[in-house]
Amino acid sequence: MTKALYPGSFDPITYGHIDIIKRAKKIFDALIVAVMRNPTKPMLFSLEERYQLVKEALREVGLDDKITVIAHDGLLVDLARQLGVQAVVRGLRASTDFEYEFQLALTNRDLDPAFESVYLMTSRDFSFISSSIVRQVKSYSGDVSRFVPKCVERALTEKLRTTPRQSE
Ligand code: COA
Repeated sequence: MTKALYPGSFDPITYGHIDIIKRAKKIFDALIVAVMRNPTKPMLFSLEERYQLVKEALREVGLDDKITVIAHDGLLVDLARQLGVQAVVRGLRASTDFEYEFQLALTNRDLDPAFESVYLMTSRDFSFISSSIVRQVKSYSGDVSRFVPKCVERALTEKLRTTPRQSE
């Protein structure tokens, strides 16, 4: 049985991530979505909130069967080893993603020679969106309904209402 891990910070999950999950699910027998920390990025949602939102979003789009969602605070290589996965799936949007993903893959392989990454090209419809773009549009009350499921939109409305935008 081929088991894959799809890690990310998912702050918040978007249709871009969901597109990768949908396609990875067709390739692998089992898929684990891991909500993780990226210590280099300031997060809007807590780890627990991002984990709950991923679960809720997958339920909303009818993708929750045969997908396990977990939250993990630690190194990706340790998690992959612990779960015994054959591959770690990542989405690639543009050439700018390549540099970062290359660095991530090589560092992880250096930490664990058994670590394998698999890259799926993001669908054209989602190639321009990112979690930070969604947060930014929503913070100015823009329409993000084409980018995220309803539950994420609701959570963004609530979060941004209670988290004021940074002043200059
Ligand atoms: N469509 C649209 N957007 C996508 C996308 C897709 N298919 N795939 C990723 N993105 C966007 C995300 O929205 C996110 O946007 P943002 O930068 O505006 O927030 C960006 O691409 C990358 O996000 P994500 O895929 O969630 O990865 P990340 O870089 O935030 O986190 C981890 C990557 C969590 C896997 C990494 O930080 C990690 O491994 N952390 C654990 C600690 C560790 O092991 N560190 C050592 C690693 S070398």
